[in-house]
Amino acid sequence: MKKIIIFVLVSVSLFVMSGCQSVNNTIPLILYDETDPYILEFKNYILEDAIGNVDIKAYDSQNSQLIQNEIIESLLDDQPQLLIINPVDRLGAYTIIDEAQKRDIPLIFINREPIKKDMNSWDQLYYLGAPAENSAIIQSEMVIELFGNPYNLSDQDKNGDGVIQLVIFKGEQGHQDAEIRTEVIVDELERYGYELEILSIEICDWQRDKAYDGMNKLLLDLEVEIELVISNNDAMALGAIDAMVENELFIDIDENDRIDHDIDTWIPVIGIDGIADATPYLESGYLYGTVINDSQTMSLILIELTQAILNNTDLTTLSFEIEDGKYIWVDYKRYEEED
Ligand code: BGC
Repeated sequence: MKKIIIFVLVSVSLFVMSGCQSVNNTIPLILYDETDPYILEFKNYILEDAIGNVDIKAYDSQNSQLIQNEIIESLLDDQPQLLIINPVDRLGAYTIIDEAQKRDIPLIFINREPIKKDMNSWDQLYYLGAPAENSAIIQSEMVIELFGNPYNLSDQDKNGDGVIQLVIFKGEQGHQDAEIRTEVIVDELERYGYELEILSIEICDWQRDKAYDGMNKLLLDLEVEIELVISNNDAMALGAIDAMVENELFIDIDENDRIDHDIDTWIPVIGIDGIADATPYLESGYLYGTVINDSQTMSLILIELTQAILNNTDLTTLSFEIEDGKYIWVDYKRYEEED
């Protein structure tokens, strides 16, 4: 009898001990919206790179802060060691930060940058993204290559008035990338000396369908010819191109299934991201150019950082730099055919 009691006591205490020591090793990755093609690609890289390194589980907030809050609330109860968050509303990140800090759970934000004040509110917060200015500067280099001398424009100035008539497709209002990309492209081109006539800034929330509708509507209203389309991302650039093709602003005159810039009818459209959907448009000359928003590199960095936080590794020994102990920036680069 005594033996049985001892056995039961030992088993119970072992069970309790293992209960106390049990660690939740799954790291949640909470995305703002998986229908966003850029985010979906980013997610796929992360899940692929995680294999054999760290157990990551993705959650989709369906572009709703309410849903995201519910997901995070229920996850926090499971005491994860870390959360990776792509916030729906980057301006509201403080609520999430507050809850995580109370439980001492570090956060890595990706792609949608919380404001400085929130990022500075705790030392266990990280942001991984790309410096938005950079993407617009690379776009401006493509415009310079197309339009040449600002005081003696190339043939891209179709009406020969010395002014570039352009349309800008803007992402979601308040998103750091939409705000900065839009402001910097205009500033850069003006600083270079171009005279711009902005026919419209179409706010299309990063979405291809909205850009398609926006361009269709614009073409009904516009009396002036568009000479340039700048888009904050590829998805909107492709929507705009689809609408322009339907409205015969792109014509494959020699019917060789591509837009030859010296023969066919076309309008330069420049995007950002380098998503897979854009590749056929780039290769066939419909999309003049794009800038890679390098989620492939970001994904590798994310896995390295996650492992380092989990293992308490000294963050100064990692393969990338962490600015102010918080920010990791991955540079944009121009898309070249072989990419
Ligand atoms: C990308 C967009 C994407 C957005 C989502 C941006 O950095 O360029 O394509 O829709 O992030 O937050």
